[in-house]
Amino acid sequence: MISSEKIPNNVNLKSDRRLQRALERWQPRFVDWWKEMGPAGFQDTHRVYLRTAIGADSKGWAHFDYVRMPEYRWGIFLAEPEKDRTIGFGDFEGDEVWQEVPGEFRNPLRRLIVTQGDTEPASVEQQRLLGSSCPSMYDLRNLFQVNVEEGRHLWAMVYLLHSYFGRDGRDEGDALLERRSGNEDKPRILTTFNEPVTNWLDFYMFTMFTDRDGKYQLLALAESAFDPLSRTTRFMLTEEAHHMFVGETGIARIVSRTCEMLKEMDGVSEDVRSKGGIDLPTIQKYLNRWFSLSLDLFGGEVSSNAANYFANGLKGRVKEEKYDDHKETDSVYSMEQVRDGRVVSEEVPMRNALNEVHRDAYIGDCEKGLARWNRVLEKHGFSDRLYLPHRRFNRQTGLYAEHPFDPWGKLLTDDDWKARSDEWLPSESDRKYINSLQVEAVFEPGRMANWIGPPRRGINGRPIDFEYVRVEE
Ligand SMILES: [Fe+2]
Ligand SMILES: [Fe+2]
Repeated sequence: MISSEKIPNNVNLKSDRRLQRALERWQPRFVDWWKEMGPAGFQDTHRVYLRTAIGADSKGWAHFDYVRMPEYRWGIFLAEPEKDRTIGFGDFEGDEVWQEVPGEFRNPLRRLIVTQGDTEPASVEQQRLLGSSCPSMYDLRNLFQVNVEEGRHLWAMVYLLHSYFGRDGRDEGDALLERRSGNEDKPRILTTFNEPVTNWLDFYMFTMFTDRDGKYQLLALAESAFDPLSRTTRFMLTEEAHHMFVGETGIARIVSRTCEMLKEMDGVSEDVRSKGGIDLPTIQKYLNRWFSLSLDLFGGEVSSNAANYFANGLKGRVKEEKYDDHKETDSVYSMEQVRDGRVVSEEVPMRNALNEVHRDAYIGDCEKGLARWNRVLEKHGFSDRLYLPHRRFNRQTGLYAEHPFDPWGKLLTDDDWKARSDEWLPSESDRKYINSLQVEAVFEPGRMANWIGPPRRGINGRPIDFEYVRVEE
């Protein structure tokens, strides 16, 4: 029997016997999954200075303490209901939002929730080996914070499945613990979440770009006419911000350290690898890889699914209230397509182009992060700049997956691509080099690996050399 206090919640779990029973069955399976597929090592031997959400208000959602990871209190929180909320877009615009799942939308809603839910444990699996090569105790703690919160996001989606989808929902909840990232027989649903994250450069780029896709998916689901989904995702967004912070500042710290090394070499050489640093071209290649993989997550450029989700009020646009037209029945989007070996613009109905509209908003957000990285280069007096590759570059799904493009969006022949892709994406030798820098954990408060600078400040007002991860006495 799990007491409701063990699962911090604001869904009045105590009074819902049916839900409690379903979660009681699922919880030990979740813990088994966590022990098998969660962070390798550190589980029973260490306590981690973690943030736990114990309430949905501003005081309760950020409670800090030392916790053994398997004992983390994964809770269920929904943002406070919005009074008299109405549907903000699509064919039912202006109607009252739904507190139950309408029968006709049961399957697509379940699909949306399962697809979102599947990314949460997937990312924990992708990152599970990183602890043994952490660049500092501060970073190790941040990795685990991201991991436990992705675990909580899985809880959030399973709560919806158990509460609103009956038997099918419970089966889906079990299946979420059975798929495995990168496993050929039972892979995670989306390809990007089956890609290996083998080192900390991957990790920072992942949290910068792939967690940011998560932010945009959550923002779109927060618009949903299905109110419990909207409230659940709104609360998840409060946690997502920290994940992107970890990625953005992680890369900024690497860039800063690289600049220092370049200055120490005083123009004698530009090869920071000779000093054990990470050179800018390699950072750019990892950026190219994770940005393009993350763009794939928004789905096909022209999509009837996206049109249906919008028409039916299931998934809206990011900050729907900013738009003037919430129906988009007659409007068009001008989409670049490849015709006879050339890229040309063609108009498609706006509702079918909504994945691309999401991608536009996401790319704009990424550009702001890039500008912050480039300010680090500028501050150090370097003229080099990092850039986002073109959206057509290195795509695995959608319109642009059928042809190779260079990072500036120029159409290439297959031979060109084969000859040059190592210039733009991490090569085997790049990966080997980065992995060779990260062979053991830096586990001494305040110390940083040679290839990365210190953070500006610690967590929750603690100093940088605070003991964020403690060996169990
Ligand atoms: Fe998440
Ligand atoms: Fe995340």
